[in-house]
Amino acid sequence: MVRPGGPAVTGARLAATGRRSELHEVRSAAWLGLGLGLTFGTCFVTGLWSHLAQDPPAWFTYPARPAGLYRVTQGLHVASGTAAIPLLLAKLWVVHPRLFEWPPARSVLHAVERLALVPLVGGGLFEVLSGTLNVAEWYPWAFFFPRAHFWVAWITIGALVVHVAAKAAATRDAVRPQARVADDTRAAAADRRAFLGGVAATSVGLVVATAGGTVSALSPVSLLAQRRPGVGPQGLPVNKSAAAARVTDLARDPGYRLVVEGAVGRRLELSLDDLRALPQREARLPIACVEGWSASARWRGVPVRDLLARAGAAADAEATVESLQPSGRYRAASLNTDQVSDRDTLLAVDLDGEPLHIDHGFPVRLIGPNRPGVLQTKWVSRLVVR
Ligand code: HEM
Repeated sequence: MVRPGGPAVTGARLAATGRRSELHEVRSAAWLGLGLGLTFGTCFVTGLWSHLAQDPPAWFTYPARPAGLYRVTQGLHVASGTAAIPLLLAKLWVVHPRLFEWPPARSVLHAVERLALVPLVGGGLFEVLSGTLNVAEWYPWAFFFPRAHFWVAWITIGALVVHVAAKAAATRDAVRPQARVADDTRAAAADRRAFLGGVAATSVGLVVATAGGTVSALSPVSLLAQRRPGVGPQGLPVNKSAAAARVTDLARDPGYRLVVEGAVGRRLELSLDDLRALPQREARLPIACVEGWSASARWRGVPVRDLLARAGAAADAEATVESLQPSGRYRAASLNTDQVSDRDTLLAVDLDGEPLHIDHGFPVRLIGPNRPGVLQTKWVSRLVVR
């Protein structure tokens, strides 16, 4: 077979070079490549969406609806990244003999293609490893995870585009059902099917073992799930407790006041009783964590838009919601006009019919549709209107 990427590493060639396995060949590489293209592609698109939700550029308005969209996109992001781990390891094992070929490049174009393997392999491994450790909430590094994960994703996808362009013809030839290669014996084909089937089953198994954090039907068999719907204070998982946020005393202070100020006609200062005395609204909304787990609950509180109208804010106002948390990257979150004006963006005081547990943000928390969990600010103390 002659193709732009160079000769395939076939069973016969490997036998001639004394290698043991007939699996180091182009068809296994191509099928695993297709799986990686699908999983990395899904991760990239859903990861960009998550980035837009958390760090929107000036030209983009992140929408408040559909309410459960972020739950789906981020669940898919973590599931496809998890599924990619066995595919990536298997692919590297299949192609590793090629990495030591001599001469390393046969032309300038081939040299470019091979150089792109450095960011592809390095970036691919970095993305799945850092993502997995982030889900496990283990940070053995000094950098800010989302920024590193985001920029390395661009580098990896750029290298993947080069790689796919170089391997497209070989992949097409290799996965065609009528593809026949002289040395593809019946035994080799059976071995390949068993190998690829095993890798696919491992990927699916890993997804099933973790996806119960968001798909409650899988929860009983999801032995590796970080969080489970139904488990936590008031039956809802928690990532950051009041103690971890060092906010317990401030949140329990009877002198608590919620302040609404900034671009308003009149500044508001409301106690928890004042807030409860205002017209309330109930909404069923999910907490959808950036780490992939999610769970729905019934929230009750004052719509942000009603509070801002009471303070005399403009109809197209935006707002920053601040927490009592003394420090921390996520102690404040922004609401764009779309989110402010959504009827279900609430300053919640009740969860499933009971006052909020302190770990869910007592006395008051923000909850809104289609938002990452880190932006659903807990222990809210101030709204600054813009
Ligand atoms: C993160 C994703 C991927 C990684 C890390 C990766 C890695 C590699 C590496 C290191 C090689 C050996 C290249 C050489 O020495 O010339 C290779 C070969 C190959 N890759 Fe990928 N790849 C990925 C995705 C893909 C995708 C999406 C496709 C197909 C659409 C693909 C198809 C192929 C093919 C056909 C070969 C040639 C194998 C041979 O000739 O024996 N790969 N890949």
